[in-house]
Amino acid sequence: MAAASQVVLHATDQTRISRLVLPSGCVIRKEPLGPDAQRRVRHEVEILERLAGVEGVVHLAAGAAQRAGSILLADVGGTALSRRETPLEPVELIDLAVSLAHAVAGMHHRGVVHRDLCPANIVVSEDSGAPYLIDFALATTFSVVQPEFAHHGAAVGTVPYLAPEQTGRTGRPVDQRADLYALGASLYELATGAPPFGTEDPIRMIHDHLARVPDPPGAVEPSVPPALSEIIMHLLEKEPDDRYQTAEGLAHDLAPVRRGVVAVRPGEHDLPTQPLAPSRLCGRDRDIDQLDAAFAEAVTGRIPRGPRRGRAGCGQDIPGQRAAADRGWRRRLVRRGQVRPVPPRPGV
Ligand SMILES: Nc1ncnc2c1ncn2[C@@H]1O[C@H](COP(=O)(O)OP(=O)(O)O)[C@@H](O)[C@H]1O
Ligand SMILES: [Mg+2]
Repeated sequence: MAAASQVVLHATDQTRISRLVLPSGCVIRKEPLGPDAQRRVRHEVEILERLAGVEGVVHLAAGAAQRAGSILLADVGGTALSRRETPLEPVELIDLAVSLAHAVAGMHHRGVVHRDLCPANIVVSEDSGAPYLIDFALATTFSVVQPEFAHHGAAVGTVPYLAPEQTGRTGRPVDQRADLYALGASLYELATGAPPFGTEDPIRMIHDHLARVPDPPGAVEPSVPPALSEIIMHLLEKEPDDRYQTAEGLAHDLAPVRRGVVAVRPGEHDLPTQPLAPSRLCGRDRDIDQLDAAFAEAVTGRIPRGPRRGRAGCGQDIPGQRAAADRGWRRRLVRRGQVRPVPPRPGV
């Protein structure tokens, strides 16, 4: 593959992105760098193959032979939203929001959760004005992922847009609803000029994702239509169960806003096509009460007797994880472990 010219668009110690001018037209080459670069290439290509044909998602370059060590992508011919001057005009913002809602819906339908939606990972075509989702490096095809507590520098995703459950500090699993929170934080930035909790201090941002309700976008930037402001706030609900459940539900509410309707009831038509696990625990109050009592005893220095019983695989550790996260039990005081059933000995 002989390229007439190559311009580097973006380079970090993790990735290099360049535009190649080929006889057949321009393509974008993404080269993951570093020790696990090959695995990252394979992962992103697999996700992009799964998303082939989804509108609003970047696709692999047609015709150009893929080369080992890099990913060749169709050139969207535009710039990332992170490079745009914000706030955007409301008309453009609503159009973008509608297109992004459809793109995210198409992606979720194919069973992909992006986990890193943010303005730097959305490129807008200069010709058509259409947005495209890019950068599937962190995407997963597992419908639910249980994140571990991680240092803020090691959290999966980009901190200003991170759903509370994706911080690994709530005990809640991550599913497609985390993308809807990240989309809400991105739209908040496009509407007001900054993400809901700024971009400065990662520890404060994580705290605020978990505990602080942001000012509504309409209060920060009066030109944001009230209905759009409410929709963005519904995307930013802390508890996944209280948020939009689907991107289709979001698209449904944005359609009347585009037509100029001034009041909507966010989430009115928002039914998941497949069941999503409730983020709140149901029917485990007794377990949690027992754990509360055991914890209270442990902090006084006594050794509590373990009251927990159950068959392997019945979710014995879940009430513990949730109770620890909800009550902010100090991590040094909580240890997780597993007891394996002992196989019966022959003749006993
Ligand atoms: N298909 C594309 N068309 C145009 N620009 C792109 C394309 N893919 C990436 N870019 C540019 O490269 C930047 C980084 O790409 P990305 O895949 O997000 O890399 P990283 O994994 O380093 O974040 C984007 O913000 C965008 O400016
Ligand atoms: Mg990126």
